[in-house]
Amino acid sequence: MAISQGEEQTTEAQLEPAEERRNLLTVTDVERTFQVGGSPLHVLKGIRMELKERQLVMLRGRSGSGKTTLLNCLGGLDTPSKGEIMFNGMPFHTMSDDKRTLVRRKHMGFIFQAFALMPLLSARENVELSLRMAGVPRAQWKDRVTQCLELVGLERRMSHRPFELSGGEQQRVAIAKAIAHKPMLLLADEPTAELDTGMSAQIMAVFQNIIRTEQVTICMTTHDPTILEVADRVYEMVDGKFI
Ligand SMILES: Nc1ncnc2c1ncn2[C@@H]1O[C@H](COP(=O)(O)OP(=O)(O)OP(=O)(O)O)[C@@H](O)[C@H]1O
Ligand SMILES: [Mg+2]
Repeated sequence: MAISQGEEQTTEAQLEPAEERRNLLTVTDVERTFQVGGSPLHVLKGIRMELKERQLVMLRGRSGSGKTTLLNCLGGLDTPSKGEIMFNGMPFHTMSDDKRTLVRRKHMGFIFQAFALMPLLSARENVELSLRMAGVPRAQWKDRVTQCLELVGLERRMSHRPFELSGGEQQRVAIAKAIAHKPMLLLADEPTAELDTGMSAQIMAVFQNIIRTEQVTICMTTHDPTILEVADRVYEMVDGKFI
């Protein structure tokens, strides 16, 4: 199974010092304020962070501290009220909505609860959907879908629909779907929240494997202290700021 294969590989990512890797995403003094009942609610209060190529970065913090709000801004699903977000050299914060949508579809993958699987489609069809959305030619779909489902260890579940899969298997289909179009950045909001310890460890092994094989950068939120150990970098959020 692909999950265990990854553990044997020695990779460039491990040999190359992190400081020599390029910044994929640079966040400078980002603030996000919502208007609630006529008064401002300051949720993000001056966030600075960097995501380097092939890094696994985790955001931790209490419920309501602003993690999802920040991920939404990083992924261009929301725009900061102030501050700058540079993604792969492009100013995300000043880009038009249309341009940002294009960049997002092509270069980013999401594992958010709101981006769940389509219930009537099989695992294979769910993954195909993201290739269709990213404008990948149809001729390439079959091989790429197979490759991605193998990568997450689901080669024997390709025809199953979500209700015919366990929670962990569904999450792995969601990962395959999020990486199928070869994004540079994968954003994941609590990807292991619904899973037991063993399954969470498996998902983290999949993440480490795809960082090596797909050269992707991953930024995820988590409450789970055992998972934090595998992060290259942990940002701790308290009340809209990093400490
Ligand atoms: N669209 C919105 N309008 C108003 N307030 C919002 C909006 N989105 C988020 N908030 C508020 O911002 C705060 C941070 O929310 P956020 O979802 O980012 O927290 P979180 O750190 O992801 O929490 P959790 O761990 O529970 O998922 C919350 O108090 C929330 O009520
Ligand atoms: Mg959240």
